[in-house]
Amino acid sequence: AIKTVTARTVVDSRGNPTVEVDIVLTDGSLGRAAVPSGASTGAREAVELRDGDRSRWHGKGVDRAVAHVNGEIAASVRGREAADQEGLDAALIALDGTPTKSRLGANAVLGVSLAAAKAAAAARRLPLYRHLGGAAAHLLPLPMMNIVNGGAHADNPLDYQEFMIAPVGAATFAEAVRMGSEVFHTLRRDLLAAGHSTGVGDEGGFAPALRTAEEALDFVTAAVARAGYRPGTDIGLVMDPASSEFFRDGVYDYAGEGVRRTPSEHADYLARLIDAYPIVSVEDPMAEDDLDGWRELTARVGERCQLTGDDVFCTHQALVRDGIRTGVGNSVLVKVNQVGTLSEALATVATAHEAGWTAVMSHRSGETEDTTIADLAVATGCGQIKTGSLSRSDRTAKYNQLIRIEEELGNSARYAGRSALRGA
Ligand code: PGA
Ligand code: ZN
Repeated sequence: AIKTVTARTVVDSRGNPTVEVDIVLTDGSLGRAAVPSGASTGAREAVELRDGDRSRWHGKGVDRAVAHVNGEIAASVRGREAADQEGLDAALIALDGTPTKSRLGANAVLGVSLAAAKAAAAARRLPLYRHLGGAAAHLLPLPMMNIVNGGAHADNPLDYQEFMIAPVGAATFAEAVRMGSEVFHTLRRDLLAAGHSTGVGDEGGFAPALRTAEEALDFVTAAVARAGYRPGTDIGLVMDPASSEFFRDGVYDYAGEGVRRTPSEHADYLARLIDAYPIVSVEDPMAEDDLDGWRELTARVGERCQLTGDDVFCTHQALVRDGIRTGVGNSVLVKVNQVGTLSEALATVATAHEAGWTAVMSHRSGETEDTTIADLAVATGCGQIKTGSLSRSDRTAKYNQLIRIEEELGNSARYAGRSALRGA
């Protein structure tokens, strides 16, 4: 049973404060979890409670969320069984009492939810992926490695937020990481040779002053080939334009490129990119408020390209259900802090899988050394993870955890590779 619940403020990868929670059980088992934070957030995300006191942390302090964990939440969950994840999460939701977790803060609630899972795993002396996933958990995810950053994650003119590589043809997860690292370093040399900056953005990808998606895709495709891999066959390309970020007044405003595209023109442009480059998956191709655009693009390219909803679903099971019913995409991005409890995130994955959709486990642009999502990818068997570039320890920590899990699983480990993708 839960003995103590303790929260503190720690710093995330952007140097902003975030909540870390320790849960200790009566048998002495410890579970510790740190909460991530997004920059390009969806409108329907659970509410991250920030103090708003401009004199401290530029208003981003989490003192109130920490106090809620140490006070009200600790008092109400003490004595509960950490292994009863659904019961605990339901109690947290009821205690908060709002539909968006805005009273206690989704950052407070999620920290407790994840720390409880890890404490329960520790009590059983099981790794988290085994505790949550049972004996069947053996699938290592296809990583989507974000090697060019733009949008809200970098200070360059690139309108699209993320350009990723996915080693679809690797034999193992460890090999996928090696392939990704080789392409990352090849890209660095290519960018340097072309006179570009090789500084990195929030997710560890390069942030060169490129203006168009084509320029970025050309650099990435060339780096894949120059590193000795066949674009599309060995390594596929993935994009997250994060389209909600530049959809204004019904128009997609490409400020960096200096072009405005109507929803149809934007969809046309994306369809052309999907045809011209070895792109296997696109996340948030259309804005969260442009459901017509989403349906149009899904009808057009959904059979040959995975279309993953991030902002449009915010990891909410009900929103994914609507999307499945109305033909909005064919895949869901899963960010635990968008919904605020582990049970709700797992329910969203289950709903996607039941409908033949895929689910992609994901980090946030603000991360910590916490590697919980690596275990969640294996526990759910979702077969895909998006957790940044081959630089910055907040990103590589997740890859390293998956390397360890693959080693631990030994002969029973299977690398998802291309088979995990929808329509590719
Ligand atoms: P965020 O970005 O964590 O800043 O929201 C990641 C994404 O859009 O997928
Ligand atoms: Zn996204």
